[in-house]
Amino acid sequence: MSSNRTRREFLKISALGAAALGLAPLTQLFGQSGDVNSAKLNSRLPGTHASVMGLTCEPLETVRIAIIGIGMRGSEAVRRLMQIEGARITVICDVVGEFLKEANKRLREAGHPEAVEYSGPEDWMEACRRDDVDLVYQCTPWLMHTPVAIYAMKQGKHTAIEVPAAFSLDECWQLVDTAEETRRHCMMLENCCYDFFELATLNMARQDLFGEILHVEGAYIHDLRYLKFLDQKDGGYYKHWRLEYSKKHNGNPYPTHGLGPIAQILGINRGDRFDYLTSMSTKQAGLSRYAAEKFGPDSLEAQSNYLLGDMNTTLIRTVKGRTIKIQHDTTSPRPYDRLHLLTGTKGMARKYPDEAIALEPNAHSFLRPDELKALLTKYEHPLSRQIGEKAKKVGGHGGMDFIMDYRLIYCLHNGLPLDQDVYDAAAWSSIVHLSEKSVQNKSQSIDVPDFTRGAWKEAEPWPVVTVD
Ligand SMILES: NC(=O)c1ccc[n+]([C@@H]2O[C@H](COP(=O)([O-])OP(=O)(O)OC[C@H]3O[C@@H](n4cnc5c(N)ncnc54)[C@H](O)[C@@H]3O)[C@@H](O)[C@H]2O)c1
Repeated sequence: MSSNRTRREFLKISALGAAALGLAPLTQLFGQSGDVNSAKLNSRLPGTHASVMGLTCEPLETVRIAIIGIGMRGSEAVRRLMQIEGARITVICDVVGEFLKEANKRLREAGHPEAVEYSGPEDWMEACRRDDVDLVYQCTPWLMHTPVAIYAMKQGKHTAIEVPAAFSLDECWQLVDTAEETRRHCMMLENCCYDFFELATLNMARQDLFGEILHVEGAYIHDLRYLKFLDQKDGGYYKHWRLEYSKKHNGNPYPTHGLGPIAQILGINRGDRFDYLTSMSTKQAGLSRYAAEKFGPDSLEAQSNYLLGDMNTTLIRTVKGRTIKIQHDTTSPRPYDRLHLLTGTKGMARKYPDEAIALEPNAHSFLRPDELKALLTKYEHPLSRQIGEKAKKVGGHGGMDFIMDYRLIYCLHNGLPLDQDVYDAAAWSSIVHLSEKSVQNKSQSIDVPDFTRGAWKEAEPWPVVTVD
């Protein structure tokens, strides 16, 4: 803040905005000074309960699953999970009864017992309370994620949440506090961590192919303009939840597809952690222009006020001095891109527009296609080697969704720690809130809380795992 007057105005506007959203005013969240780095941001130390870093729970012979939200993503989850031995979908819940009927038809036709159906807007609570549920798997609109996850854990259930897991710092801390209190798993379903190339680069990084990795980049660049305006009855989102979020928020609301894989490679929360970030957004133009063309310049869609800048760029610095660039753009006409770029003292890799790797001593050029193919074969991650073929057949973003689900069920079945824990869910999701605060505050640098409460210092980077 450059002056007291500006600061006072910022606090007033922020408090009004927060009240409108039903959130705690920023003065409560950040302390009376209004300094984005002060007061409660890092003040949840120590926790009342022991850390759940590396949490192991009782092995489950059969993992009985309640899926909440059977829309675009949830119906695909039904299709994948029903093909995993040791998993059983016992409950399905959605406010659209037709989606439940379709899911049960799919289960029946595949020779599985039908799942119990719930269709009331608050029936998800009843679903979480049931005795025949071990895992509450959530594919709901964004703002339901944390409340449902908290409730599920409080009913003694493990929970898996679609991305992002939380939308405010308070929600991030609620997830951490509840997982520690209930000793239940809370995993964010970051499927991009299981993409074949992302897995291979993790394997390469663990074998020191790139040397010390100093800078990484990730993104979610996906033209969703058509989908954002589509009604649910025509295949769009429930009550246009993504569009509605764009009217109220700026920053990066969806950071984890790009961030998850590179955070795992860097060992975030395990040997390193996010220290601080700065974030900047372009103005909004894409949605308004698209709406004017599609619905007419005087339409409600074109006249609406959208806060979300078209392109957001967030830079994060880690405690160990590495840098991370994360971008978000869902309204520009351009090809899909997650970047997935990492660069170290011995070489670099990038996924888009074509997978490419350059290594010392010839890192001025990328490897030739035959050299790249040989390298990717040599360093294929055990998970894609073991279940990649089946995953490609089942599908789901080329197979990565199935690898994620398969590994989740495998870990629960064997009583193993999960690949992504509640600290990852909180740290990766906290970028939603922190990027918005930085954008609102002239890109002011803002601290990222240590959700592990110091456990990151002793923890080892996530290893190369298998499903042997
Ligand atoms: N990991 C990925 O690759 C990926 C891809 C797409 C979506 N997602 C995430 O999945 C989630 C869902 O996205 P989607 O595209 O399926 O949206 P969607 O709108 O199609 O699905 C949400 C579903 O929740 C249902 N719902 C709404 N209120 C409910 C309530 N009170 N109780 C029960 N059900 C309720 C809706 O009827 C709808 O069917 C989002 O968090 C999104 O970010 C992740």
